[in-house]
Amino acid sequence: MAQGTTARHVAIIMDGNGRWAKRRGLPRAMGHKRGVEAVRTLVRSLKGGAIECVTLYAFSSENWKRPRDEVSDLMNLMRGFIRSDLEEFAANGVRLRIVGDWRALDPDIVEMLEDALERTANGTHTVAVALNYGSQQEIARAARAAAEQGEITVETIERHLFTADLPPVDLLIRTSGEVRLSNFLLWQMAYAEMMFVDTLWPDFTPQHLQDALDEFAKRERRYGGR
Ligand code: FPP
Repeated sequence: MAQGTTARHVAIIMDGNGRWAKRRGLPRAMGHKRGVEAVRTLVRSLKGGAIECVTLYAFSSENWKRPRDEVSDLMNLMRGFIRSDLEEFAANGVRLRIVGDWRALDPDIVEMLEDALERTANGTHTVAVALNYGSQQEIARAARAAAEQGEITVETIERHLFTADLPPVDLLIRTSGEVRLSNFLLWQMAYAEMMFVDTLWPDFTPQHLQDALDEFAKRERRYGGR
């Protein structure tokens, strides 16, 4: 496979908000708040760039196990983020997508998201946010849907994934030094290049993304061939 290719789809596990706050003696909520600012800056930086899609892991199906206050902080940040940034998203050609079982979230969030999806539908580059997302659950659900319609094959399963109309993930970045996938886009990352960086998410800047893209361009991808 040719080297020097660009990543069309970048997936990011935004980890380390809690540690960022702890190191500063701040409440965890402050780490998440700064995490949202890092998301905002990153999304702004995509304008005019070559990346077609960024998928951000914002809330996993397992995150419900966190203390209630923290879950509620995260949901409130989501509400605030949509309220404050939707206009800018739409103006900058961002097409919002949500992956996961997001319709099970609080009804007001579902309503806000439906509106946001509609208002950004014509955007040229996609920002997909994984909300109440678990990859194993997604694959099981897609396999069930495929079976109901006939044959279970790679193609029919793929057609029922939340990401059906998105390109496969080329590059995964996980911040904060943890080296695991945490039930994120397992199917979609079958041939993804992976980068685990020590930077904590609130400190992650567009330059960090550029560094990862530069590294990606140097990697040789073989897709099982040679
Ligand atoms: C991991 O940090 C981060 C999360 C579980 C949530 C990620 C959410 C955001 C960045 C904000 C919401 C996003 C949007 C799109 C509005 P952690 O709490 O697990 O950190 P730790 O491992 O250091 O404790």
